[in-house]
Amino acid sequence: MLELNYRNADAVVIGEENGLHLEEEFNNYKDTITHIIADLNKRKDKPGQWLQWMNLGYSEETIWYVKEFASMVEGRFENILVLGIGGSALGGLAVTEALLKPYWNLLTKEERNNLPRIFFLDNIDPDSINGLLGILDLKKTLVNVITKSGSTAETMSQYMILKNLLEQELGDDYRKNIVVTTDKNVGILKQLADQEGYKTFIIPDDVGGRFSVFSAVGLLPMALVGIDIDEITNGIKDMDLALKNIDIHQNIAAQNALIHYLMDTKKGKKLSVMMPYSSRLKYVSDWYVQLWAESLGKEFDRNGNKVNIGPTPIKAVGATDQHSQIQLYNEGPNDKLINFIRVKEFDTVLEIPKIFEYTGIGYLGGKTINDLINAEADSTKVTLADYSRPTITITLPKINGYYVAQLLYMLEVQTAIAGELYNIDTFNQPGVEQAKNYTYALMGRSGYEDSAKQLQSKMATL
Ligand code: PA5
Repeated sequence: MLELNYRNADAVVIGEENGLHLEEEFNNYKDTITHIIADLNKRKDKPGQWLQWMNLGYSEETIWYVKEFASMVEGRFENILVLGIGGSALGGLAVTEALLKPYWNLLTKEERNNLPRIFFLDNIDPDSINGLLGILDLKKTLVNVITKSGSTAETMSQYMILKNLLEQELGDDYRKNIVVTTDKNVGILKQLADQEGYKTFIIPDDVGGRFSVFSAVGLLPMALVGIDIDEITNGIKDMDLALKNIDIHQNIAAQNALIHYLMDTKKGKKLSVMMPYSSRLKYVSDWYVQLWAESLGKEFDRNGNKVNIGPTPIKAVGATDQHSQIQLYNEGPNDKLINFIRVKEFDTVLEIPKIFEYTGIGYLGGKTINDLINAEADSTKVTLADYSRPTITITLPKINGYYVAQLLYMLEVQTAIAGELYNIDTFNQPGVEQAKNYTYALMGRSGYEDSAKQLQSKMATL
């Protein structure tokens, strides 16, 4: 199981001004947390609650279809190209980056066990799209178009470009190179997929984009590159079981949610840094940033009061960012709670050769890179404590599908609990929708004429 160590957020270690009396707080919030966990589990099957993500580890049917499709297309494609943005891309990106061999796309076919390379086109920079299209052999590329709303302009425009190119290259057969993941009713993509006859995976109702990593949104790209889906679902299920525990003393998601909430509201720590000491977990930080920001950054609380709340998430990676952000974290404003992610056992033990023995770097010889990254993480944590800066450490026994799934699921539950503590709607995103609507208006989508007029008059005054 994952471990959560919160000692360095406690007043005993970092002092009264910045630390919390955690045992006392856990006891103070015991009943609140019990109620929140019981309530989330009670509401999770009810339509309209947006809690279906809590059931994804158990969706046998989707898991079966995903595995079946992956085995059906095995050996047919050299590349998987995922078109999607935000929650439709970040989960797949985070998990594949963590679990595939590093530099996967640069390995030979043999080194990849005949499995395809994978690319996520999650932006609309014309140069980078063009650059990627220039290196992919589209005949050997399976395009997975992912959009929950079935209309997002970024993803749909990419799809339109790819559809045209595939058709030019493959004639009528192009349909075999497209697989769609979308909502069953909403949006245009489902209608198009039906008309065109694409293989389609459905994102279940009441699963928001940023909570969709364990639906076909994330599972399909994972399965297509050979990631063991059973290992992923076992991780989710075991973590889910652990997090059903209503006792805060036994529930790491509740502990970390409460610590973040109290650090924000009592100690002014309005920034939440996610800093894995692992390059493979780098995109977990990107995924967390979206999850935390879109879920908790809200204008109104559930009672309609204007609150404008939400801790700001920041991504970092250790040891790299020790040489960029840590100066600020140690000596700048004491307004952050830093989450370290540690890996107990890396796949590789990399020795540093015993050379240059009589020079200033001789002390490194005979040690391992593993010793070094662990020493860096320990010393950063201790230095931050010396400066009275709170930190949390989440430890993964190793990086595999089981533990990465546990980590992501734990962070999802933590976010849901934090949302309850803030008394906000964790699962909506009116701020994102507003900008999407303005884009539709600017690009001339029908039905958005009034917004276009408003927008043009606002832009004229800028
Ligand atoms: O979490 C969310 O809801 C958003 O970030 C969406 O994932 C993102 O806007 C993409 O939306 P869609 O999947 O509808 O294309």
